Amino acid sequence: MKYALITGASRGIGRATALLFAKRGINVAVNYLNSEEKAQKVVDEAVRYGVRAFSVRADVSSEEDVKRMISQVEKEFGTLHILVNNAGLSSHYNPEELSLDEWNRVIAVNLTGPFLVTRYAIPLLKKAGWGRIINVSSLRAFSGSAKGAHYSSAKAGLIGLTRSLALYLSKFNINVNAVAPGYTRTDMTAGYLKTKEHEISARIPLGRVAEPEEVAEVIYFLASEESSYITGEVITVNGGIYFT
Ligand SMILES: NC(=O)c1ccc[n+]([C@@H]2O[C@H](COP(=O)([O-])OP(=O)(O)OC[C@H]3O[C@@H](n4cnc5c(N)ncnc54)[C@H](OP(=O)(O)O)[C@@H]3O)[C@@H](O)[C@H]2O)c1
Repeated sequence: MKYALITGASRGIGRATALLFAKRGINVAVNYLNSEEKAQKVVDEAVRYGVRAFSVRADVSSEEDVKRMISQVEKEFGTLHILVNNAGLSSHYNPEELSLDEWNRVIAVNLTGPFLVTRYAIPLLKKAGWGRIINVSSLRAFSGSAKGAHYSSAKAGLIGLTRSLALYLSKFNINVNAVAPGYTRTDMTAGYLKTKEHEISARIPLGRVAEPEEVAEVIYFLASEESSYITGEVITVNGGIYFT
């Protein structure tokens, strides 16, 4: 029986991942920041699959919150096998309008967050003797983003973190990989999909944006026994879109 912590699991890709894990028999800790009710709904839905689940509020960019979250996981589950660093946010500014505060905020959640959560989860993963860490990067790590230098930089940095952790953790039987989704239908993209979905879909070889469940399937694969010989890798899930 496996135990997982998924950050940012109240909505979007994290929610879809938590529910898929639960459906496939993995116990899930559902992290959120603000959406307490939504996180509780994910927990309620997860337990219907017969697994254990609980929600835990923590800002992944706060060291104190992260320490408390990992302690709570230890208290509730006693162990941890799978960590999905999914929590993230983005904003859109031209580089010369991007304030240092905004740069720092986006780097803190998307890059420092995965570092912090991993750092404090490592002892539990090591103790379990088998582990998987999956970091949710982005197409933007590769393509860049004219109005998202902070976001692209954080997501590209996350790939460096993934490879570094993979090197260090391989001797502990812990594989570390990333997924890099393209356009996925979540709250994060709802605003521009409302007006631009047709235009965006036309640029994607598969002709449509992804549903969060399609990204969750790849995360699940990387969390499973079946991905045993993959570490330090990035799997893009983008319908064939590259460098646009
Ligand atoms: N959607 C896309 O097209 C796309 C493409 C590439 C990569 N991604 C990446 O995929 C991941 C999930 O994105 P999404 O589209 O599913 O986003 P979303 O629907 O906006 O959900 C974001 C999730 O992250 C949580 N969160 C935000 N800041 C947090 C913090 N400081 N601490 C803890 N939790 C926090 C939110 O919690 P609350 O609900 O409590 O606010 C929510 O559960 C992100 O890392 C994103 O960058 C998304």
